[in-house]
Amino acid sequence: MATILFITCNLKPVENSSSQTAAKVFLEAYLQYNSNDVIDFIDVYRDPIQRIDIDVLSGWDKLLKGHDFNALTRDEQKKILRINRAADQFAAADKYVFVTPMWNLSFPAELKVYIDSVCVAGKTFRYTEEGPKGLLNGSGKKCLHIHASGGFHYGKEEDHSVPYLKAVMNFMGIKNFEAVVIEGMDAFPHMREEIMEKGCNACRQVAAQF
Ligand SMILES: Cc1cc2nc3c(=O)[nH]c(=O)nc-3n(C[C@H](O)[C@H](O)[C@H](O)COP(=O)(O)O)c2cc1C
Repeated sequence: MATILFITCNLKPVENSSSQTAAKVFLEAYLQYNSNDVIDFIDVYRDPIQRIDIDVLSGWDKLLKGHDFNALTRDEQKKILRINRAADQFAAADKYVFVTPMWNLSFPAELKVYIDSVCVAGKTFRYTEEGPKGLLNGSGKKCLHIHASGGFHYGKEEDHSVPYLKAVMNFMGIKNFEAVVIEGMDAFPHMREEIMEKGCNACRQVAAQF
């Protein structure tokens, strides 16, 4: 039995969202093959995600200098505990599904806030003399990114969504990464149905072996 973190990042209801519609198809197909898996949903817009703010930074700094956790201010303690909880939940998952819209050549900023809350030294990566090393490697973890964009960016230098997510997962040690990119629905509205069908079929295919 695997645990999946299913991370969405969208203000729209599912029926108005291309990425979430395709993700729903993925999940339904996936559960047919893996009915006992546990799915933990994170909605980075609606769930409280702890931002890295001045309390988090000053608390980390004090801990690095050898201060006891109890010596931190109440806010520092509270916020660091929230970050640690998010990072622990992330580290404990077996599989990750990110579902995002393209916004201005990347995904919405709320997802970056979430990523910052789980990239925690000592939990998902560590510093070594040769530079940072991912701690989530070697455990068969895998990641799927389902991403929708109105125009065409995938594979171009301007795309900061899929390549960034792939890089940051790799940074934490998760090298098994694949993407389903659904693009061009706004550029070619007359082809919307065809594009969506292709994206949903790709999701069904990935679900069979994810
Ligand atoms: C604020 C905003 C910014 C957007 N920026 C881009 C963009 O840079 N490139 C693009 O191709 N589409 C852009 N779009 C269009 C969305 O990528 C498109 O509507 C896509 O279907 C969003 O996925 P969703 O339907 O799952 O929300 C943008 C849409 C919004 C609302």
